[in-house]
Amino acid sequence: GEFSTMTIQIRRVAINTGGGDAPGLNAVIRAAVISGRRRGWQMFGIRDGYNGLLEPEAYPGGGIISLSRESVRGITHLGGTILGTTNRGNPLAYPVVQPDGSVEVVDRSDEIIQGLATHEIDAVVAIGGDGSLAIANELFEKGVNIVGVPKTIDNDLEETVVTFGYDSAISFAAECIDRLHSTAEAHDRVMVVEVMGRYAGWIAVGAGVAATADAILIPEIPFDINIVAEKVLDRQRKGRDFSIIVVAEGAIPRNGERSILGKALGQAERLGGIGLQVAAALEEETGKETRTVVLGHLLRGGGPTTRDRLLALRFGSAAIRSIAAGCFGCMVALDPPEVRSVPLSSAISRMKTVPLDSDLMLTARDLGISFGD
Ligand code: F6P
Repeated sequence: GEFSTMTIQIRRVAINTGGGDAPGLNAVIRAAVISGRRRGWQMFGIRDGYNGLLEPEAYPGGGIISLSRESVRGITHLGGTILGTTNRGNPLAYPVVQPDGSVEVVDRSDEIIQGLATHEIDAVVAIGGDGSLAIANELFEKGVNIVGVPKTIDNDLEETVVTFGYDSAISFAAECIDRLHSTAEAHDRVMVVEVMGRYAGWIAVGAGVAATADAILIPEIPFDINIVAEKVLDRQRKGRDFSIIVVAEGAIPRNGERSILGKALGQAERLGGIGLQVAAALEEETGKETRTVVLGHLLRGGGPTTRDRLLALRFGSAAIRSIAAGCFGCMVALDPPEVRSVPLSSAISRMKTVPLDSDLMLTARDLGISFGD
């Protein structure tokens, strides 16, 4: 993959946030707005992904809004996104229901490009995960001067050591698992904790290792429920009458299927339900009382941790420096100790899953955590 460098005169820059929200979005917006304004640029925000350009009439205050210094005051620590976001309807493959009820998929990128031209936008900062960054790359290929910022609680993006949002998600998940320890121990129960993460086990492993789970089930390792039950019984034989099992929503039982809640038109499939299945099977296999907790969107809500705030502020400012340097079709990425630019195309080329030979996994194995394999 390549990105372009060309120095153009920048006057007006628009920011958007796409896909599921993640703690730190507002910190990126603030850093980008302040850094851009200091260069004398006018800064704008597009509402709800690209919807502000596609359906401007739906926004009484305008689908694209001016972002003043005042607009971004006091938002660094706040969850959500002041611009709004959406994970419905990829504008490049937009489902349009026809009068006869059939669905036609249309590419609306020309409307986005036209909307940007109407508002005389010279460059775009697109903050998003795999889906939004793939859209950003297509827009770049169609001539939009665009810079990506990697966001997702799932941490499943290539080319950056970590995405912002991940630390906030695992910090909160670890706190929840800590709390479950005391009640599990008091009741001699098995607690199954289902966490988000889509097709990668980053959240489960990060939170599970930090909060000393007894077993962690992740999409990368199909699990054998009998091996997990054996872990619970083995602990019991050693006098530890409770167990904590962390299950990634995308985990797959050996000889089984991934648990899918459903799929709406124009949306990614929704994962979930595996926690209840694992709990039922464990109760059956071990005879121990078992309860399930699904952390779900709690992992996306609330403000960013200090680490995520810093990363988000660094990404927002780096995106503006990237625009100033005329570097487009790129994504800002953490490559410790620095933030640098990488081609968007390589960041979206594949999903980053947990490497089984990583020191994180070796640590988990050394600590005796079972992965059900
Ligand atoms: O990608 C972030 C994420 O929270 C995933 O972990 C989860 O599978 C998905 O989004 C949930 O999406 P929604 O908000 O549409 O339920």
